[in-house]
Amino acid sequence: ANNAEGSLSGTLGDPSLATIPTGGVTRAEGDALFSQAGDEVDFELIAGFETRTSRNVIAQTRTGRTDNVVLAGAHLDSVYAGINDNGTGSAGLLETAIQLGGAPDVDNAVRFAWWGAEELGLHGSTEYVRSLDFEQQLDIALYLNFDMIGSPNAGYFVLDGDGSEGLSAPGPYGSAQIEQAFVDYFSDGGVETEGSDFSGRSDYAEFIAVGIPSGGLFTGAEGLKTEEQAEKWGGVAGEAYDPNYHFPEDDLGNVDRVALERNAKAVAYVTAAYGESTETVNG
Ligand code: PHE
Ligand code: ZN
Ligand code: ZN
Ligand code: ZN
Repeated sequence: ANNAEGSLSGTLGDPSLATIPTGGVTRAEGDALFSQAGDEVDFELIAGFETRTSRNVIAQTRTGRTDNVVLAGAHLDSVYAGINDNGTGSAGLLETAIQLGGAPDVDNAVRFAWWGAEELGLHGSTEYVRSLDFEQQLDIALYLNFDMIGSPNAGYFVLDGDGSEGLSAPGPYGSAQIEQAFVDYFSDGGVETEGSDFSGRSDYAEFIAVGIPSGGLFTGAEGLKTEEQAEKWGGVAGEAYDPNYHFPEDDLGNVDRVALERNAKAVAYVTAAYGESTETVNG
């Protein structure tokens, strides 16, 4: 978890065990897949499950208040290659960490987290939050989530900190303020965003569950772009924001580089601004 200069302090998260599907296919004893190595038949594999160890990778600046931490995360695991989901969020976060450096002049410590096993049920982030005691949870000022930020038919969505649908996010001086910081950043750059509900489908879920204000960016998955959205954002109406979502075709070609650049800059700007102050963030 160290950067090239080795100046970020890094830790490997505690390994968390999760029982995960290995393909969802029930395989019978005598199946060719079992006989190839001449191994004993594993009971858990027969049921289509095995137990694997997954890790989070966490790095934190050496400067800044550690009782008012700005935590930014992206899941590192994927289905197939997972370039948009979630190489984009992981890379945007990594570039932010590298550019910020390990010992930047920040007032609040910035902690970067690359989560494991999100696709299998938000395991890495959930285990992480649960591993913290109440005081350690209180030391986290806010959580920023980046899951899919370069969808090929991109929407510009900001997690809706004051919405009424989905999980209710902590507010009023929490999630709604974070949403506003992203909205202002994009609007200064001439991009009109829309809110995206905290559906519970990404790594913010456990942070919200324990009352930590959260926000983040998302360029869309299997949802269909509307005519109105195509007019303001470009792209193709009636098609999915990411037609290759969770398919093998989510490869290096599956990224809108303009959307990725805009979003990655928003990741960097808002993360670094909260590193300076969590009182207000404005352009
Ligand atoms: N968390 C989803 C995934 O990694 C992506 C997603 C986020 C889809 C939010 C819908 C809404 O597959
Ligand atoms: Zn996914
Ligand atoms: Zn994802
Ligand atoms: Zn809102």
